[in-house]
Amino acid sequence: MSMSNIIIFDTTLRDGEQSPGASMTLDEKVRIAKALERLRVDVIEAGFAIASPGDFAAVQAVASAVRDARICSLARAKREDIERAAEALRPAAAARIHTFIATSPIHMQYKLRLQPDQVIEHAVQAVKLARQKVEDVEFSCEDAGRSEVDFLCRIIEAAIDAGARTINIPDTVGYAIPAQFGALIETLLQRIPNADKAVFSVHCHNDLGLAVANSLAAVQAGAGQIECTINGLGERAGNAALEEIVMALNTRQDLFAAKTGVHTQDIVPTSRLVSSITGFPVQPNKAIVGANAFAHESGIHQDGVLKHRETYEIMRAEDVGWNANRMVLGKHSGRAAFRARLEDLGISTQDEAQMNRLFARFKDLADKKHDIFDEDLQALVSEASSVAAIYELEHLRITSESGQVPQAQLRLRIRDELRSGSAQGSGPVDAAFKAIESIVNSGTSLELYSVNAITSGTDSQGEVQVRLNEQGRIVNGQGADTDILVASVKAYLDALNLLASRAARAHPQRENDGI
Ligand code: KIV
Ligand code: ZN
Repeated sequence: MSMSNIIIFDTTLRDGEQSPGASMTLDEKVRIAKALERLRVDVIEAGFAIASPGDFAAVQAVASAVRDARICSLARAKREDIERAAEALRPAAAARIHTFIATSPIHMQYKLRLQPDQVIEHAVQAVKLARQKVEDVEFSCEDAGRSEVDFLCRIIEAAIDAGARTINIPDTVGYAIPAQFGALIETLLQRIPNADKAVFSVHCHNDLGLAVANSLAAVQAGAGQIECTINGLGERAGNAALEEIVMALNTRQDLFAAKTGVHTQDIVPTSRLVSSITGFPVQPNKAIVGANAFAHESGIHQDGVLKHRETYEIMRAEDVGWNANRMVLGKHSGRAAFRARLEDLGISTQDEAQMNRLFARFKDLADKKHDIFDEDLQALVSEASSVAAIYELEHLRITSESGQVPQAQLRLRIRDELRSGSAQGSGPVDAAFKAIESIVNSGTSLELYSVNAITSGTDSQGEVQVRLNEQGRIVNGQGADTDILVASVKAYLDALNLLASRAARAHPQRENDGI
């Protein structure tokens, strides 16, 4: 049986970042891109260069940092988008421009306000311009899942003639059903006369929980590229989860006769990195990367697995990187070991001042916690590289006693000024957040508060996520500490710092959105 190679196109940094509150700093994007390179994805969509100066810089930084994957920028079918994408991609070892325009009747009529022939003309001009800038051009028919097949055939044939070498069929609103979506791909491949000159790709959203199933149906129908994200992150209900796609193809090679180049042992560490940077926890029963994905609770299952693992397990936990969680450093580890481990994790150690700060934080942590794991180091680096802090915690005192109302007193440094506040609350965290608000009066609403243990054991650091909403602008703040009250306050302040620092950026799928 001959095996086809499926191209894995990761869009965690672009579509994943469109999840409300999942925006990442430039440093964080580079760390994720380096992790994706280690994971050996084929294409990394690093962002939407025209969206903001920050997005441009992030695409450029990823294009400079990554050598072993193709780097892609999204661009609407507009001259200014394509020029900006090409400029940001200049440092890339291998670059791709991904240009798109909506093709469904509802999008063409109400969003674009263009006639179908005009849409084809825009697509052709965009692909031709992109081909003048780079060799590798992908064209997407946005909302293909609700587009008319005859129109898709016309526009795709024209885009291939204009030079697109990847044709992406997005189910933008997550409307497709596997058998129907597979049939659509098959029809396009059969009916478009020049279909053999391009790789057909799919990009499925998960509104009906079918993104992975639809992507796999497309592979069976002949698609050669899948667009996906780590942990299924993405706009609304998210995208197809990379880890599920890759492991389905690996585990059922008998059905798919297709493989990917992904180094599966790096799946779990990459999932954890993305979760800790974005502040989107992974649900325990999530396939492949959830904490319970390989845990057997029932006695019958445990007994079966002990007698013969394959009675209840179709994959090996170690093959996707569980147990890769090595104890790496401790109180007595020196600077050289610390630096070497950071480098192994793809974290740059060039900046000596930054190294000194990280090493001092590491020593503080090692005083409180015996074993330092990779996850602890990632949390440490995230904290140190988070946005320039306007609000910083100077001192925290919390009193909590059974039968008494919890009380928090804290002192914040706001730029160069020290300010104190206190408050009571229904619990110690509530009291601490109210004490912050007694000083800051931010006018935000708290949308999510969650605590996770970064590693196992009661000396683990608690990693806290705080989601704040300021008139529709959503940010996720994070904080890690062995004291979860300190971690909570750090996370709240991180969210306030994010709100203070983030410039507005455009959304690729809204026309005339601030550009
Ligand atoms: O969902 C979508 O249609 C997209 C395109 C820009 C590919 O993200
Ligand atoms: Zn999308």
